[in-house]
Amino acid sequence: MTDSDAGAPPFVLRDLRWEDFPARKETWLGLWDEVKENPELGMTLALERPSEVDEVGWFARLYEQVLRKETIVVIGEIDGKAVGMVTIGTARFGGRPSETSHVGTLGILVDRRYRGRGLGEALMVRALELARGRFVWVRLLVFSVNVRAKRLYERLGFRTVGRLEGEVKRGDRYLDEELMSLRMADWRPPAPRSSA
Ligand SMILES: CC(C)(COP(=O)(O)OP(=O)(O)OC[C@H]1O[C@@H](n2cnc3c(N)ncnc32)[C@H](O)[C@@H]1OP(=O)(O)O)[C@@H](O)C(=O)NCCC(=O)NCCS
Repeated sequence: MTDSDAGAPPFVLRDLRWEDFPARKETWLGLWDEVKENPELGMTLALERPSEVDEVGWFARLYEQVLRKETIVVIGEIDGKAVGMVTIGTARFGGRPSETSHVGTLGILVDRRYRGRGLGEALMVRALELARGRFVWVRLLVFSVNVRAKRLYERLGFRTVGRLEGEVKRGDRYLDEELMSLRMADWRPPAPRSSA
């Protein structure tokens, strides 16, 4: 970092762009290597690494949902590259209006090289600000062993409301997931982090 960088925000929060596809793909596909080093990695993965075609399809559907204003997406950018993403959308009916449209489902991923610098929290705060007035509850699923993520969610007001025993089978091990929920009427942004 140079003197002129001092005081500059460490990341930029912005909307999703079509050009984010390669960076997002790199972060996502990197999880299949990461899980070999960390068997407790807190993301549910397909048994096979997805193909390029799978990834294009997923990204195109997400982009369409953003254009239709059905899903909230916030991108965290560092050095011009999208290295983190949070989404809040409706889990069912492909984001289309339904009897569960008042419930948002949150997902978040920060590239492993950029974790632990506040990006995850900043992404969550921005997405929850955008979710205010749009969703009555926001929910997420987190591995019980994903202590770091759970701490982040609890700091932002999420509470565990249920446990899905053995929901994920990783190798020969069964891992529990916790359902966490935030009532948007109760949501308050956290106090700014002390620089001391
Ligand atoms: C969970 C996840 C999204 C968190 O993102 P992140 O960018 O690392 O989150 P933050 O940096 O805001 O917070 C992580 C830690 O860094 C600390 N931190 C934040 N800003 C910091 C800073 N400027 N300096 C030092 N530490 C800092 C936080 O206090 C927090 O510490 P804690 O673990 O002791 O509570 C990220 O770890 C991730 O993508 N993990 C893999 C996928 C995953 O588990 N997703 C969640 C599925 S439910």
